[in-house]
Amino acid sequence: MKKYAGLLLVVLLLATLGACTRREEQSAEQRTDAAAGEARQEAREGAAATEQAGREAGREAEKTGEGIGQKAEDLGREAKQEAKELGREASAAVGGAREGVEKEKAAEGASVYKANCATCHGADAAGKTAMKAPALKGTDEAAIRKVIADHPQHARFKKLTDDQIKAVSDYLRSL
Ligand code: HEC
Repeated sequence: MKKYAGLLLVVLLLATLGACTRREEQSAEQRTDAAAGEARQEAREGAAATEQAGREAGREAEKTGEGIGQKAEDLGREAKQEAKELGREASAAVGGAREGVEKEKAAEGASVYKANCATCHGADAAGKTAMKAPALKGTDEAAIRKVIADHPQHARFKKLTDDQIKAVSDYLRSL
C-alpha cells in the first residue's frame, strides 16, 4: 500500500508538472499570438498612414503643379499682350518715320523746284508764257532728264543729283 501511495504521488506529481508545462506553453502561444496580432495591427496602421501621406503629397503636388501651370499661362498671356503692344508701337513708329521721310522728300522736291525752276515755270509750276516755259505739273523723271540733256537752258541742272530729280518729279506729280 505504501508502495502504491509513493507511485501515486509520483504519478500525480508528473501529471501536475505536465499540466503546468501545457499551461505555460499555452500562455506562451497566446502571448505570441497577441504580439503577432499587435504587430499586424501596427503594420496595417503604418500602411494606412503611409498611404494617407502619399495621397496628401500627391494632392499637394497636383495643386503646386496647377499653380505653376496657371502662372506660366498668365505670364504667356502677358508676354503676348506686351509683344502685341510693342508691335503696334513699332509699326506706328515705322509708319511715322515713313511719313516723315515722304514729307521730307516732298519738302526737298518743293525747295529744289523753287530754287531752280520757279523763275521760268512759275511758282506753282503752271508755266509762264513770258518765259515761253510750259506748265510742269505731273512731269516725270524721264522728261526732266531729257530736257536737262537736250535743252541748253537746262544744262546747268546737270549738277542735280538723282535724288533731287526724283524729288522734283515727285513734287510736280503731287501738284
Ligand atoms: C531759264 C528758264 C528756265 C528754267 C530755269 C527752267 N526751265 Fe524748263 N523750260 C524752259 C523753257 C523755255 C522750256 C520750253 C522749251 C521748249 O519748248 O523747247 C522748258 C521746258 C521744260 C521741260 C519740257 C516740258 C515739255 O512739256 O516738253 C521740262 C520737263 C522742264 N523744262 C523742266 C524744268 C525743270 C525741272 C527745271 C528746274 C530744275 C527747269 N525746267 C528750269 C525754261 C526754263
